[in-house]
Amino acid sequence: MAETVDRIVSPVRNVEDFKELTLRPRHLDEMIGQDRVRENLAILIQAAKQRNEALDHVIFYSPPGLGKTTLAHILSNEMEANLKITSGPAIERAGDLAAIVTNLQAGDFLFIDEIHRLGRAVEEILYPAMEDFALDITIGKGPSARAIRLQLSPFTVVGATTRLALVTSPLRARFGATFRLDFYDQKSMEAIIRRAAGLLGVDTDEGGIVEIACRARGTPRVALRLLRRVRDFAQVRADGKITEAVTSDALELLEIDELGLDNSDRRVLHAIIKKFSGGPVGLQTISASINEEPETIMEVVEPYLLQLGFIDRTPKGRIATALAYEHLGLKPPSQSQARLPEM
Ligand SMILES: Nc1ncnc2c1ncn2[C@@H]1O[C@H](COP(=O)(O)OP(=O)(O)OP(=O)(O)O)[C@@H](O)[C@H]1O
Ligand SMILES: [Mg+2]
Repeated sequence: MAETVDRIVSPVRNVEDFKELTLRPRHLDEMIGQDRVRENLAILIQAAKQRNEALDHVIFYSPPGLGKTTLAHILSNEMEANLKITSGPAIERAGDLAAIVTNLQAGDFLFIDEIHRLGRAVEEILYPAMEDFALDITIGKGPSARAIRLQLSPFTVVGATTRLALVTSPLRARFGATFRLDFYDQKSMEAIIRRAAGLLGVDTDEGGIVEIACRARGTPRVALRLLRRVRDFAQVRADGKITEAVTSDALELLEIDELGLDNSDRRVLHAIIKKFSGGPVGLQTISASINEEPETIMEVVEPYLLQLGFIDRTPKGRIATALAYEHLGLKPPSQSQARLPEM
C-alpha cells in the first residue's frame, strides 16, 4: 500500500534513501550504537584476518532501518573484500544462485537481503554452498542424468531479515553468528543526527538535534528522513537553522507527535481501543478495520509500539496498555475492567 510506504516516519526504504549513500558509516568504529554487536563483529573480523580465512556466515535481523545493510557493507570493507548484493525475492531459480556463487572469489561477501523470502529450491543450493563451499548440480535428464559437485571459493554469506521466524531452521543453522539489532537509545540517535547534520552541512543546535532524536523511533533511517524534512522547513519557514522550536513546528505540521508516532500508528492504537475495546484483537482484524496491510502493521508499526509498551501481544491478539490510553489522552479502563494479558 503506497500510502504506508510514503510515511515520513516509516522505517521502510524509499527512493530518497538512495541519495544518502554517502552518509553510511563505512567502518565499524564509525558506526554509532549497537555496541555489543559491534564488539562481537570486531572479534570475528580480527580472528578471520589472523587466520587468513573468509569470515564466518553472519545473519542480522531487526525491524527495518536499523543498520543491517550498513553492517554488510562495513564487514566487506573491514575485510577488504568485494560485496555482491542480492535479495531473497531476486533469486528466482536455483540456477540464478549457482551463477552468483560460482563467480565469487575467495573471501568475497554475498549479501542476501530479505533472506526469509528465498525459494525452497534456491535454499537447497545454498546449504552445501555455505557449509562445504560446494555446488551440487545435475547434468542431463532422465536415466543419463549425473550429479556432480563443483568446488567453490570460500566466501561469506551475510543474511538480513526483518522476520527471523520465517527463516527456515536448516538455513539458520548454517550461519555461524546471528545478531539482533535493537532500536537505538536517545544518546546514539543524537550522535547519528549530529554526524549526519555535519556531513550534510546542515545548521543545527543541540535543542534541534535532541528534538529530532526524540521523534525518530530509535531508527537511524527515520532520523535521517526527519532531518531532511526539518531542514526544508527551516529553510522555507525560518532562517535555515534547525532549533528545537523549528523542529517541533515542522513535525507538528507533519503530524508526528513527541514520541514519533504518526497517523498510521495512532490509527492502529485507536482501532484497538475504540473499535475493539482495548483488545485482545487479532492482527488480521485490525488490518481489515483500518485498511492497512497486516505485514506493514507487523513489521513497521508494531515493533515500535511494543518497544514503547503501548501494546502487548497475547495468544489471543493485541491489547492496548494503559500507557497507550494516556498517550492518546484517553482514560484507561479501570483495573477491574482492564483485560490482562492471557497467560
Ligand atoms: N549506526 C548507524 N550510524 C549511522 N547511520 C546509520 C546507522 N545505522 C543505520 N544508519 C543509516 O540508516 C539508514 C538505514 O540503514 P540500513 O539501510 O543499513 O538499514 P536496514 O536495517 O538494512 O533496513 P532494511 O531492513 O529496510 O533493509 C542508512 O542510510 C544508514 O546510513
Ligand atoms: Mg537493508
